[in-house]
Amino acid sequence: MSTFDEIIAADQRVEPRDEMPEGYRKTMVRQIAQHAHSEIIGMQPEGYWITRAPSLRRKAILLAKVQDEAGHGLYLYAAAETLGVDRADLTERLITGRQKYSSIFNYPTLGYADVGVIGWLVDGAAICNQVPLCRSSFGPYARAMIRICKEESFHQRQGYELLMTMMRGTDAQREMVQDAVDRWWWPSLMMFGPPDANSPNTAQSMAWKIKRHTNDELRQKFVDMTVPQAERLGVTLPDPELRWNPERGHHDFGEPDWDELKRVISGDGPCNAERLERRRRAHEDGAWVREAALAHARKHAPEKEA
Ligand code: 3HC
Repeated sequence: MSTFDEIIAADQRVEPRDEMPEGYRKTMVRQIAQHAHSEIIGMQPEGYWITRAPSLRRKAILLAKVQDEAGHGLYLYAAAETLGVDRADLTERLITGRQKYSSIFNYPTLGYADVGVIGWLVDGAAICNQVPLCRSSFGPYARAMIRICKEESFHQRQGYELLMTMMRGTDAQREMVQDAVDRWWWPSLMMFGPPDANSPNTAQSMAWKIKRHTNDELRQKFVDMTVPQAERLGVTLPDPELRWNPERGHHDFGEPDWDELKRVISGDGPCNAERLERRRRAHEDGAWVREAALAHARKHAPEKEA
């Protein structure tokens, strides 16, 4: 029977019943729970546009995407529960602000082009961040990521196709797309977390092979991937320092506003109160469904062995 250190050293998967350091378990609960919370809260910004979509096709695509996010949240709560936590408690921690969710979902979706930009940039950033997590050392998390990443690819492509269509439209539509890019570009870079030098968790998470790349490495990968896509789309990324650096073989880019990230993470973003209030209300409104399901389960529970 391999020890935890042998499992990590051999690049194998830690499974729920394996011996593991309490710090590893706590880190996995923290990261998986906050990831799950992000998926559930992430349904709100785009959910607003389901009833406002310009066509039945766009409505159907957006409905499918938002439903996917709900499913991602449920897979991830299930992965967290393999570590002995309870999703009702995790939901309580989210609603009472004792656990986080991704900063990106605290920005408003001011126009329909935001739906396309969220697909292109936010889901694109999610793919950069989550594909390596398919090789994360904790088995249930890595396995959940494999299916989530397949669905995120659809999310990113539908967003980019929506924007391509708008960019072939009127000047007003092209302006809507550029305005949305201007508002979502920097918050998308902040999704990857603080710079490595200010990331208290990265070193340990890399040592435990939870993270396979650092925050800055993934942020750089995202910028390098997105610049040519922006050029093909015909939009300008709002960063005057953005340029190809042949020596580095990467794009140089400006410094995100880390004070803004700190403010948004600590609850002072444009939509934090609204997002949490909506989640709290949905949880309360759904209490009767949970009670009914529990009553049904108790009524039909198999007779206890005498
Ligand atoms: N939003 C909110 N909190 C953030 C954050 C962000 N963008 N970036 C960092 N933080 C928090 C961290 O959670 C940590 O706080 P904690 O210790 O109380 O949890 C603190 O800031 C310091 O950051 P670190 O870099 O040290 O923390 P991590 O090592 O956990 O790295 C992370 C942060 C990169 C977000 C990492 O947790 C991660 O990769 N998580 C899994 C992916 C994820 O959660 N993505 C969120 C988006 S969900 C999504 O993409 C849905 C899709 O449909 C769009």
